Amino acid sequence: MRTQVGIVGAGPAGLLLSHLLALRGIESVVVETRSRAYCEARQRAGVLEDSSVRLLREAGLAERLDREGLEHGGIYLQFAGERHHIDFRELTGGRTVTVYAQTEVVKDLMAQRIASGGAIAFEVTDTEVDRLETDQPALRYTDAGGARQEITCDVIAGCDGFHGICRPAIPAGLTTVWERDYPYSWLGILADVPPSTDDLIYTRHRGGFALHSLRSPTVSRLYLQVDPDEALENWPDHRIWDELQRRFELPGSGWELKQGPVLDKGITPMRSFVSAPMRYGRLFLAGDAAHIVPATGAKGLNLAMADVAVLAPALDALLHGDDGLAAEYSATCLNRVWRSTHFSWWMTTMLHRTPGADDMEAELQLSQLRYVVASRAAATSLAENYTGYPAITTF
Ligand code: FAD
Ligand code: PHB
Repeated sequence: MRTQVGIVGAGPAGLLLSHLLALRGIESVVVETRSRAYCEARQRAGVLEDSSVRLLREAGLAERLDREGLEHGGIYLQFAGERHHIDFRELTGGRTVTVYAQTEVVKDLMAQRIASGGAIAFEVTDTEVDRLETDQPALRYTDAGGARQEITCDVIAGCDGFHGICRPAIPAGLTTVWERDYPYSWLGILADVPPSTDDLIYTRHRGGFALHSLRSPTVSRLYLQVDPDEALENWPDHRIWDELQRRFELPGSGWELKQGPVLDKGITPMRSFVSAPMRYGRLFLAGDAAHIVPATGAKGLNLAMADVAVLAPALDALLHGDDGLAAEYSATCLNRVWRSTHFSWWMTTMLHRTPGADDMEAELQLSQLRYVVASRAAATSLAENYTGYPAITTF
């Protein structure tokens, strides 16, 4: 078999890249270890930046997003028994974010690719990439029927997430890695109950961080900081709700957290990770394959989309004999990646309780939070980063 771009992974990065390439008349094949149903049901991110929405719209992928996405013009920051609103629209000249779950982005992308004849091989095993230093790299896998396949490509895009095989295919010694594991995880639930808030609430509490997000007018998404080695079995639904009630409580305000049946629950580690460069020969990494951010800044999905918005025109030029944009791909992406890595680290460390930390750390966090809600300059910085900086300009 032969294709122009072999894409490893049918997450948001791989599927969107395949679509952006098709818009440029470039053929690709996507290979994915999981089933289509599994990819479409995996609960993950929920917030799209302003320019991610624009990218999806301009790429013709926003029909359902425009109908069902929930636009939000701000967030709440809660600490020391107070809740403050940060008004993104007012601070940034009209920029907003949109709550539209990653599951829905993936469903829309899958439907679009399959309807327009895009090739996606699901439930593959033993994926390998080879001959990356040549201009005919190879993508090999065992298909769902058990047959070994080899695709000769012009380029391979490693969109296979943090645990994929593409990043480790780069020879040791040629990459630099920066990594930080935070001493806490998030326990996330999807609950069949209307959201108790109009905008997301990020809470710093003595007992730990909590986040109230949402998925629709009838479904809420909530997160709790838990210990990094915490087991889900220790968290029956009543314990989760009790802890959420405690962390979101606002005495005297009349505000209440509504409870409902838990539809899904899971634990996610908090990690910062950057591997550079994002290119080796004819292999280009995009999304979680190259970088991970802790979820507090809501950046992971947006970074994956921004990478492929840079990669599509770079590969188009490369396939027409011009390596200029491809040579700049890694540096262009890493500029945004490091901005988001810093912002996510800043939001995370400002809002979480570090086990064993002293009272000084608590006072420093509270001082920073008071500054953010009191100073227009500080609030604008949060708003500019949260809604997406720098804006995506090409794809
Ligand atoms: P992925 O979505 O990971 O897609 C990679 C794909 O490659 C997967 O479908 C995988 O099955 C496939 N694959 C892996 N190995 C192979 C192989 N060898 N061969 C073929 N296919 C392969 N971000 C937020 O902003 N907010 C959140 O709340 C949030 N929660 C998260 C929870 C979890 C459990 C995880 C893992 C991530 C979360 N993120 C969150 C991050 C966000 O979801 C990711 O940044 C986003 O999914 C990145 O997209 P991607 O396409 O790069 O990678
Ligand atoms: C989510 O809705 O899943 C979500 C929202 C904001 C975050 C992280 C996750 O910072």
